[in-house]
Amino acid sequence: MSRYTVTAALPYANGPIHIGHLAGAYLPADIFVRYLRLKGEDVIFICGSDEHGVPITLRARKEGITPQQVVDKYHGIIKKSFADFGISFDIYHRTSDKIHYETASAFFTTLYDKNVFITEESEQYFDEETQMFLADRYIVGTCPNCGNSNAYGDQCEKCGTSLSPRDLINPHSQLSGKPPILKKTKHWYLPLDKMQNEWLDKWIRSKEGEWKNNVLGQCKSWLDQGLQPRAVTRDLDWGVPVPLPDAKGKVLYVWFDAPIGYISATKALFEKNPKSDPARAGRNPKFKEQWKNYWCDPETKLIHFIGKDNIVFHCLIFPAMLKAEGEFILPENVPANEFLNLEGDKISTSRNWAVWLHEYLEAFPNKQDELRYVLTSIAPETKDSEFTWKDFQARVNNELVAIFGNFVNRTLVLTKNYYESKVPQHGNATDLEKECVAAMKRAKKNIGEAIEKYRFREALAELIDLARTGNKYLADTEPWKLVKTDPDRVATILYMSLEITAYLAVLAEPFLPDTSANILKMLNIEKMQWTHLEGQVLKPGHQLGTPALLFEKVEDDVIEKQIQKLNSSKTLNQSEPTNAASNAPPAEASAKSSTTFDEFSKMDIRIGTILAAERVPKTDKLLKLTIDTGIDKRIVVSGIAAFYEPEKIIGQQVSILVNLEPRKIKGIESQGMILMAENANGELAFVAPTKVIDNGGTVR
Ligand code: 2FM
Ligand code: ZN
Repeated sequence: MSRYTVTAALPYANGPIHIGHLAGAYLPADIFVRYLRLKGEDVIFICGSDEHGVPITLRARKEGITPQQVVDKYHGIIKKSFADFGISFDIYHRTSDKIHYETASAFFTTLYDKNVFITEESEQYFDEETQMFLADRYIVGTCPNCGNSNAYGDQCEKCGTSLSPRDLINPHSQLSGKPPILKKTKHWYLPLDKMQNEWLDKWIRSKEGEWKNNVLGQCKSWLDQGLQPRAVTRDLDWGVPVPLPDAKGKVLYVWFDAPIGYISATKALFEKNPKSDPARAGRNPKFKEQWKNYWCDPETKLIHFIGKDNIVFHCLIFPAMLKAEGEFILPENVPANEFLNLEGDKISTSRNWAVWLHEYLEAFPNKQDELRYVLTSIAPETKDSEFTWKDFQARVNNELVAIFGNFVNRTLVLTKNYYESKVPQHGNATDLEKECVAAMKRAKKNIGEAIEKYRFREALAELIDLARTGNKYLADTEPWKLVKTDPDRVATILYMSLEITAYLAVLAEPFLPDTSANILKMLNIEKMQWTHLEGQVLKPGHQLGTPALLFEKVEDDVIEKQIQKLNSSKTLNQSEPTNAASNAPPAEASAKSSTTFDEFSKMDIRIGTILAAERVPKTDKLLKLTIDTGIDKRIVVSGIAAFYEPEKIIGQQVSILVNLEPRKIKGIESQGMILMAENANGELAFVAPTKVIDNGGTVR
């Protein structure tokens, strides 16, 4: 048995997960881990939210809430969507947790005590208006490489070049919009140049032939340019404080603390993992120390699953940190994927050009495996690839429904019809059965080998090939024609088909866990290990369960709806600036003429909750809402039917003008008005509090 520590990149807790994230890191990691577990290996699967860094503080400013509120919100959303999608982390932790602060501080202190860092006082950009240093994404300017006028202080997202703030042309602050001044500040640097010469260069080059070409290629290009010392601290107020007396107002750089998050998550796993045996933990005081087996034992294989934008951090900087610390193992492999595009364009969070996981799960309940299947089939393993809704539909209908589901269904239904769902006694094997057995063995071997080489697309294709073999076998042998004339032969054919089905159930588990469980249920057998897949799996006479369809066809209207949804977000965003910080909805050309505060104060605007909603008959636009205003429960008629489905807004908090004169709309007395935000396209959205406010709360 081997021991594995498998990590998947910690997503920033400043937005939900989309299909690009899944195809890049989380699905391949999950397939790999599920396979290792099936083989009985000792594996832990680690992930969690990356809760520091400038994108989070910027979002907090934009939403008018604290960074902690931002990360609390998204940590919850992300954790739930991963769980609903069947990503089987052993722990989904977070870097705002106390154990992480302790671990990251201790890590920094060890490096400091070992004199690893160099310190340097240098001039850095500073915003005089907000009295803040402008690290990373707090500063924007023109990219010296491609001329993009919205490049960030750490990277140009257009050409991918890694930048530092001083590289930007015409820099200006994201906070005040003003050009910055230069001010002296002291920081701690990791001497990557020295490390490159001492061991890092040699270590990376020793991975030739083992690591993926896209990964090695990027590493070598960094090495060829010569690594530079890299600051691991920042002048910010959100992050792990630098644990030194002369470092007030400084925190660890997010890319220093985030990967340490893998270690702190592992510690947390062994401290309070509900899966671990508390009795054992109580008896063995060393139980908590078990995390070390996964990080400090040279026999353990550490594997990081990431997207290509994280390569330099996981292949060069984090290993440099681990080696300098001295206690830790280095990654065995970093199988990074390239990017997934969407309908001919780059996935973009700020432009809302994405298929969001939580929205997919809502629109396609119980269809996790369909998305897992498609994303694995098109995973950007060696180069960027593309998701389109039409392709999604075609793959589900032509492969999952027509090949995989069809074979399993035919086998189980025929067995039900001919043998009352009991596994029949097989007779002598002909060449056809021998070919089937060979195909089953081959599938198991090829799938295992491909997964071990991180070739998940290939592995999945082998799985479908086995189902294809099964279908061909049924088509060639035509048991439905022989049932009257040669029942013994039919028994053999269905026995063989059931064996293939059992193989499919086990071999599918890493890719399609729900489907695997469904087939096992229909076969009425327990979950099996990979290694148990030898020789005959099913015993003649065994009672099977009830056949049911594994997959449903995806209809055109469902796909059209998704395409329309995407395109409407594109139209909505065309008029928006690409700069995330100024991502405000398009304003009216000029402000209305001025009013007095007294006039404004006459309006009694409250927070209320929608208790009931229904369409107003014979109208397209109107909903009749029952609102709990905290003062009373009242009816309001609102023209929002084009934007909200009544059943989906029950429980939604809204802002309501409660002292507007009542008026009759379509015969219903409307007692107040719901406040709505409107964009340039006339689309409406509720104006709602960013955290729950008791009904009756005032809006001022
Ligand atoms: O790119 C990202 O989303 C980062 N939050 C990944 C961090 S991975 C690890 F180092 F924590
Ligand atoms: Zn650029």
